[in-house]
Amino acid sequence: MVGQAVLRECLLDPAITSVLTLCRTAPPTSHPKLRHIPHADLFDLTAVEAQLTNLDACFFCVGVTSVGMKDNEYRHLTYDLTLSVARTLQRLNPAMAFIYISGQGTDPKSSLHWARVKGETESALLELFPRAYMFRPGYIQPMHGVRAKIAWYNAVYAVLGPLYPLLKRVVPSMFTSSEAVARAMLRAAQHGAPKRVLETPDINALASTPALN
Ligand SMILES: NC(=O)c1ccc[n+]([C@@H]2O[C@H](COP(=O)([O-])OP(=O)(O)OC[C@H]3O[C@@H](n4cnc5c(N)ncnc54)[C@H](OP(=O)(O)O)[C@@H]3O)[C@@H](O)[C@H]2O)c1
Repeated sequence: MVGQAVLRECLLDPAITSVLTLCRTAPPTSHPKLRHIPHADLFDLTAVEAQLTNLDACFFCVGVTSVGMKDNEYRHLTYDLTLSVARTLQRLNPAMAFIYISGQGTDPKSSLHWARVKGETESALLELFPRAYMFRPGYIQPMHGVRAKIAWYNAVYAVLGPLYPLLKRVVPSMFTSSEAVARAMLRAAQHGAPKRVLETPDINALASTPALN
């Protein structure tokens, strides 16, 4: 869902001349400036490394839910997977911006396993890239037809969607949209951000700043 939203914003932004998607599922759209590398095993990028140079930014939108998953499996698909991709990209593009989506409540010292794993992932990325930015959205309302992979998320969106304008006004610290998250991710990659770890209000504020192109 977040990946689709970021892709949409990248394709709309005239300052972005070339977009590369690296994932196992083809993007739902084609575009003259979009090139897709189909690749299933993100733990091993050897076969595609030659195509991963000269990149200005990575919007890392891969993520799994911890619900129903064993702790070690969640850690493997969160910390290990992200750091494996990040280390390869850092070696090939040391100056790149790396934007990571964690989530509200992320904390390396949390008693909750998912929050600790995402927190440790954030800390490692912040150390690896001088231009790393960690995004911690709360509830993300999907916009422009983007869909979550997890079916029950879409059921929640169907129920809360009509209430979103009200909820965003009443509890702005928790609510954002896929468009705002994607816009803020682009702003952070292109021009930096006031903080390296952004909570929902920071994300909404950054998304509403004008593009400097
Ligand atoms: N949605 C929200 O409201 C929300 C709020 C806060 C934080 N977040 C965080 O944002 C991140 C993205 O969330 P989302 O809602 O966009 O999730 P999503 O719709 O489920 O998308 C997750 C993406 O990760 C890919 N992926 C998962 N495991 C993979 C693996 N082993 N190898 C390759 N690709 C893999 C999936 O690829 P396939 O399409 O090929 O399966 C999918 O494209 C997650 O970490 C989530 O915790 C989401």
